Amino acid sequence: MKALLLVGGFGTRLRPLTYTRPKHLLPIANRPHIEHVFDLLRRHGIHEVVLLTSYLGDEFAPMVAAAKERGMAVDVAHEPEPLGTAGGIRNASHLVTGTFLVFNADVLTAADLGAVVEFHNARRALTTIVLTPVEDPSAYGVVPTSADGRVLDFIEKPPRSEAPTNLINAGIYVMEPEVLERIPADKPYSAERELFPGLVAGGERVFATGTHAYWMDIGTPRKFLQANYDALEGAFPTDAVGAGAGAVLADAVVAAPGARIAASARVSCSCLGRDVVIEDGAAVERSVLFGGAVVGNNATVVESIVGEGAVIGAGVSVVGQTVADGSKIQTTQ
Ligand code: GTP
Repeated sequence: MKALLLVGGFGTRLRPLTYTRPKHLLPIANRPHIEHVFDLLRRHGIHEVVLLTSYLGDEFAPMVAAAKERGMAVDVAHEPEPLGTAGGIRNASHLVTGTFLVFNADVLTAADLGAVVEFHNARRALTTIVLTPVEDPSAYGVVPTSADGRVLDFIEKPPRSEAPTNLINAGIYVMEPEVLERIPADKPYSAERELFPGLVAGGERVFATGTHAYWMDIGTPRKFLQANYDALEGAFPTDAVGAGAGAVLADAVVAAPGARIAASARVSCSCLGRDVVIEDGAAVERSVLFGGAVVGNNATVVESIVGEGAVIGAGVSVVGQTVADGSKIQTTQ
């Protein structure tokens, strides 16, 4: 079975980090996020992938080469202008060979894909949507279903008290090739807002099944950080060390090769990229530092993302910030 991975969005909520790379290449436990998606697929025996690229699509080239070396077959369907989540799928029609999986590839999950495909086949569904529970569904699209899993409705961002369910669309789908004919060609079209509601309204066999496995989309700085904490705490399978991403030190810290932590510095629950330097007396807590970042003497970095090569000056305190690649922060104010 092939998996189509949607990776063409602008990732605006993760700017400025996504001005220079798609969000799928941001590091989770020091490995590009998309590699964790590849791992999940491989664990389920899925070795054929189609990347649905648009924004900064060329940035995926090194990752595609590495995946091919590890035995994956990777095709790319590129959209010169983004076609939306359904339009991107349609744009890869020529690469679809049978029942296929689709992923919003900014999702980190340990979902049991085999069980989802089994559910889909047992119901002879046209499309199956994976659902995941969230505490507060009011920021999401919720999907009520009948007892046998048939999708009844799509409700966008319901007020919390009125949400009929806390199950939201997890951005993972199984589809039959016939779905492709329901997507208009060469124009932007949304899976969540147009395709699925249209299929349900037309009485098509759209089903949904829940997963209680780990699930997190990495689309905001807060959720990107949370995904890293979860990786450090072993909430989902990751071979960060096996892939050469770095050593796991005490206090849930992953440090890539070349990272240097002064003996008097304190680092906890953080991921340090290649050649990161933490100088004397500095404190780094619940943060992700990209390659080449420097934290100066007695500086403090808490719950922050520090971009590539950024420098946090001596004595400066950075709390809850996203620091752009190459920035030099010299003041706390
Ligand atoms: P924001 O700009 O921060 O809202 O995020 P986004 O639009 O990049 O991502 P969103 O969470 O809305 O999209 C879910 C997934 O679909 C992500 O993996 C996106 O990269 C991908 N995606 C969104 N729009 C497109 C598109 O037009 N084409 C393709 N190929 N992928 C898309």
